[in-house]
Amino acid sequence: MNAREIRQKYLEFFKSKGHAIIPSASVVPENDPTVLFTTAGMHPLVPYLMGEAHPQGERLADSQKCIRTGDIDDVGDNRHLTFFEMLGNWSLGDYFKKEAIEWSFEFLTDEKWLGLDPKRIYVTVFAGDENSPVDSESIETWKEQYGKVGIEAGVCGEGEKAQADSRIFLLGAKDNWWGPAGETGPCGPCSEMFYDVRPGEGALTGKTHEEWVDEFRIMEIWNDVFMEFNKVAPGKFEKMVQQNVDTGMGLERTITVLTGKENVFDTDLFLPIISRIEELSGKKYFFTKGDLGFEEMPDCWVQDMRSMRIIADHIKASVFIIADGIEPSNTERGYVLRRLIRRAIRQGHLLGIKDNFTIEIAKVVQEMYGDVYPEILQEKVLAELEKEEEKFRKTLENGLKEFEKYMSNPEGNYITRKVGDEIQKASLYPNDDTASMMFNLYQTYGFPIEMVFEELKKSGVDIDSDKRIKIENKFSNLLQKHQDLSRTASAGMFKGGLADSKEETTQLHTAAHLMLAGLRKVLGDHVHQKGSNINGERLRFDFSHPEKMTDEQKKQVEEFVNVAIQAKVPVEMKEMTLEEARAQGAEGAFENKYGEIVKVYKIEGFSNEICGGPHVANTGDIKGVFKIKKEESSSAGVRRIKAVIE
Ligand code: ALA
Repeated sequence: MNAREIRQKYLEFFKSKGHAIIPSASVVPENDPTVLFTTAGMHPLVPYLMGEAHPQGERLADSQKCIRTGDIDDVGDNRHLTFFEMLGNWSLGDYFKKEAIEWSFEFLTDEKWLGLDPKRIYVTVFAGDENSPVDSESIETWKEQYGKVGIEAGVCGEGEKAQADSRIFLLGAKDNWWGPAGETGPCGPCSEMFYDVRPGEGALTGKTHEEWVDEFRIMEIWNDVFMEFNKVAPGKFEKMVQQNVDTGMGLERTITVLTGKENVFDTDLFLPIISRIEELSGKKYFFTKGDLGFEEMPDCWVQDMRSMRIIADHIKASVFIIADGIEPSNTERGYVLRRLIRRAIRQGHLLGIKDNFTIEIAKVVQEMYGDVYPEILQEKVLAELEKEEEKFRKTLENGLKEFEKYMSNPEGNYITRKVGDEIQKASLYPNDDTASMMFNLYQTYGFPIEMVFEELKKSGVDIDSDKRIKIENKFSNLLQKHQDLSRTASAGMFKGGLADSKEETTQLHTAAHLMLAGLRKVLGDHVHQKGSNINGERLRFDFSHPEKMTDEQKKQVEEFVNVAIQAKVPVEMKEMTLEEARAQGAEGAFENKYGEIVKVYKIEGFSNEICGGPHVANTGDIKGVFKIKKEESSSAGVRRIKAVIE
C-alpha cells in the first residue's frame, strides 16, 4: 500500500460512515491570530466545534495540510517533520467515544481497510486528574474491540510497567489531554493508538509506555480526542454545549508502520525527494532502523543523511507555505519560511551541492502532491524559492570571501589555525575578536554564525562548547548594542543556536552546571557533559548515560537545582592550573584542550566545574524554577535534556 491509497481509503471509509469529505484548509489560518500555521485538522474547524452549524453537516472527514515548527531542531531523526498530512474525522455534537473508537479499530484492523495486526496495536487512555475523571468509557470500549478479535486487553496503570496482557495504558494530562491549538479553545481527554514496529523483539513487558515510545519500539499513529471542554484561561476549563470528536491520523507515520519501516523518510512520501537529492549531491542515502539507526555508521554518513532528511522536509514545507500565499521575509510566517528555506540551503551546502537546487527538489514535491493539492503547482512556488536561494547564495558567497580574508591574514588575531600537526589554541586569543569577526560578517553580509563555526572547524580551529557559548554571548551583545537592527530580526534570527538574551542565557549556563552536578549525584560519576547549546529560552545538554532517566530521577535532579537556586549560593571563580583543578575534584574534560591555566567555577556544596563562563554571581540570580522539559536519546550512550527556567 502507498500513501495515496491510505488517504483514499480513509476518506472512503468515513464516507461509508456518513461523513462529508471536506477539502484541506490553507496552512495559513484564516481567522486565528494566536498561531502562525494550521497545526492540526481541527484547527480550521474551531467555530464548528464551538457550536456553529457546518454547512456540510455534523460528520466531516478530510486530509489536512499541517505545519508544526516546534520541533524543528529534531527534524532529521526518524519521525519529526515540519510538514505533514493529518487525516481526520469529526463529530460536531453527533457521535462520541464509542463510535469513534469502534471506527478507529475497524479502519486499522479490518482486511478491507488497513488490515493492521491487532496484536501489534497498543492504546492509551486518559488516567484522570483534578480537572476530569479517568476515561472509563474509552477503557471499556477498547476492551470490547480487542475482545472482538479474541484479545483479552489488560489495563496498565499510570507510570506502571507493562504486563504480558497490557494493551490499554493510562496516562496523565501531559500525554492524554489534547488542545487547545492556540492559547484558548476546545480541548478534552484523548486516546492514542500506537503500533509495534519491531514485534520480533518479543512481548511488550517490563517497561513503561513512555519507555517503549522512547526506544522507538511503538510509534503513535492516531489520536482520538473527545472534545467537550473549552479552555477559557490558563487552568480554566468550561464544559462546551456539544460533545465533539476530533481525530488525527498522521499519514507519514501510518505509511511508515504499514510498510514495515521505522522511519518516515524511508517511505513513498519522501523517497522520490531523497533520490533527487542523491542525484544532485552525488551522495548516498541509506535505509535505517531504530531511532536514527545511525549508531553503527561513520559520522560523515550520518551528517549526510541528516542533511538529506532536513532538505526533504523543509523544502516540502516551504512549497506548501508559499502556495498558501506567504513570501520569505523577516517577520512571522515569512520569517519561518525564510528560515526553512535557508536551513535547507545550508544543508545542501554541507552536502556539497554547488548550484541552486531548491527548485529541483520543489519540482519533485509538485509531481508527488500536485493532483491532491493543485495549489502547489502555481508558478510563484518555484519563483519565490529561486529568488530566496539567489539572495541567500549572494549572502554566503560574500561572507565566505570575507571570512577567507580573516583566515589568510597570518598576523590576524581573530582566530587560530592548524599549523602542521599543531593546533594553536584558540584560548590564547581573546574570544571577543572571534565574535567581532562574526558580527562583522553577519552585519555586512548576513552570514550566519553557525556557518562561521563550521568554516572554523573545517580550517582546523578547535572551539569547545564553553568557548562557543562565550563567543555567542559576545556576539549577541554586539547585536543588541547595534541600534539599526530591529528586535524581531535579531531575536528570531538565530533561535535554536544563539543567545538572544544575554541575561537569561547566563542564568541557564549556571543552571547547566547545577544540573550536571545533580545528574552526577542522582545517576552516578559516569555522567559527563557531551555537548551543550544554550539560548535565551532553553538549555540543551548532552551527557553520557546508557539509559532513559526515570521520572523520579528527573524530579530529583530538578530538585537539586532548585534547592541550589533557593539557597542563594555565591558562584566563585578561581583561576588555577589544570592539575590543581583536577586535584580539587573539579568536573571537566581533562584533555589538553583547556590549556595550562583554567577557570574553575565553584558553587559551594553543589558544583565545581572547569568552564570559561560567564555565570551569574549568585545562584539566587537565577530567576525562576528549573524544569526538565524533555529527556531523550541523542546517540549511542548519550542522552539529551532540554530544560528551562520557568
Ligand atoms: N487534534 C488532535 C491531534 O492533533 C487529533 O492530535
